[in-house]
Amino acid sequence: MFTNYDTFVNLAKTLQWDETTIDFAPDQAAWPALGDTERARVLGLIAGFCIAESAVSGHLVPFQAAAADDWVAAAFRAQARDEHRHARFFDRVAAEVAAVPGADIAARQDVLRALVSPDLVDLFEERLPATARRLAEGREGLSAAVGLYHMVLEGVVLLAGQNAMLDTLDRLSVRLPGVRRGVHLVLRDERWHIGFGTRLVQGADLGRDEVEALLAQGQAAAGAWGDLVPPGAAERAVRVHRSRLRALSMKFF
Ligand SMILES: [Fe+2]
Ligand SMILES: [Fe+2]
Repeated sequence: MFTNYDTFVNLAKTLQWDETTIDFAPDQAAWPALGDTERARVLGLIAGFCIAESAVSGHLVPFQAAAADDWVAAAFRAQARDEHRHARFFDRVAAEVAAVPGADIAARQDVLRALVSPDLVDLFEERLPATARRLAEGREGLSAAVGLYHMVLEGVVLLAGQNAMLDTLDRLSVRLPGVRRGVHLVLRDERWHIGFGTRLVQGADLGRDEVEALLAQGQAAAGAWGDLVPPGAAERAVRVHRSRLRALSMKFF
């Protein structure tokens, strides 16, 4: 039984949250007490999310335009609203908790970009925009673009990073409750985004080559965080990716 697209739109309405209401006072007080290694890991993950969420929030317009019906377009619009909120949340964390210098989000991203691997920057700032451009120009189909955006970038790379972030926050010598609360809410939104994208790809009835290409893309992208995400977390994300692909194309497995 497939989920109808209106389910995603209605679910998104019930999950709305406001990043401006998260209280970072306890996090600001705790941040200076972090050890150097702890701080480097948390800041590196925050940097990756700032780069990634900003990129994904900026490239959903061609997806909306390519939607086959109004409910799919509405789901992309609801997702774009979430992604903009995620980008604002992580920028708040960077500016207000980690005290990353910079007059605005772009200036802070310039500082943060140096903290993440070139592979991660390439995926979100080169490959995703190129795919969105091809989609807008009619040179790439919606299902291939969703395969990269929802299944690989969100379903493998961001999911691995979010799980590593929650795990890291739980092991720190001090608590960062505002950051943890926001990451938990981001992860909750991402679950329906990934479900929505998987449903779209499922409906596209991909061929074996396309399914294998998506699997290979997911495997290659899983390491994009470098040392910031433990190998086990990256492997887990690939296993989940493989099972999503298996569920949408039983005939090839
Ligand atoms: Fe997001
Ligand atoms: Fe998302």
